[in-house]
Amino acid sequence: MSVLTDPSLQARIDALQARSAAQEAETVRYFGERAKRGDLSWDALDAAANRFMADKMVALEPIKSEFCHMLCLALRARRVVEIGTSFGVSTLYLADAVRQVCGPDGGGVVIGTEYEPAKAAAARANFAAAGLADLIDLREGDLRETLRAIEGPVDFVLMDIWTEMARPAIELVGPHLRPGAVVVADNTGDVFRHAYRHFFAYVNDPANGLRTMTLPFSGGLELVVKV
Ligand SMILES: C[S@@+](CC[C@H](N)C(=O)[O-])C[C@H]1O[C@@H](n2cnc3c(N)ncnc32)[C@H](O)[C@@H]1O
Repeated sequence: MSVLTDPSLQARIDALQARSAAQEAETVRYFGERAKRGDLSWDALDAAANRFMADKMVALEPIKSEFCHMLCLALRARRVVEIGTSFGVSTLYLADAVRQVCGPDGGGVVIGTEYEPAKAAAARANFAAAGLADLIDLREGDLRETLRAIEGPVDFVLMDIWTEMARPAIELVGPHLRPGAVVVADNTGDVFRHAYRHFFAYVNDPANGLRTMTLPFSGGLELVVKV
């Protein structure tokens, strides 16, 4: 049973998740072949990989999105930042949680980030169709620019982005985390651990007041807490 209580939102998300899952085999094949040829680095996606990924949804798995939804409820999260929005599947979970926390008076926000214009347009359409657009501030463009201004303390962050962007993103959002805030980062297990090393250097720097552990979700899911 899902954490979502709105059956129409659940149905909408199920359909988007199915579209995302249908692209997975092609993505695995593409990166597998490039890795076999030895011309792939997770330290920076090259132009060809970026072109390939330009229409890929790569939605966060449902179980991880549900976990983030639950964390937002537990934190009473009103200000959420999503690093990597794509077509906005995980954003819908986050916005639903913020809507539940804030109630009919509103006041909460999910700040999303996406630099592919076609993906941002698809995400906006998904937000409008789900009736959640008012809760989402989608910042279109490179997050290194669009996240320069973040107003107010941040309660929750979902980091679901190419690994090379994790460090610049945490540098921009980290100073805005309120005590007790949580950052969840996807795929921090063995495969991408090395590519995440600059992110971990920030997280493990005592000056930044963070604690972290890797949860045993598929591929590893980082749970970072601001103390
Ligand atoms: C893994 S996907 C996000 C999936 C999304 N969270 C979901 O569950 O539907 C990561 C997204 O980050 C975007 N992205 C990559 N680098 C970016 C950057 N520098 N600024 C903004 N968006 C970026 C990619 O275009 C991609 O759509």
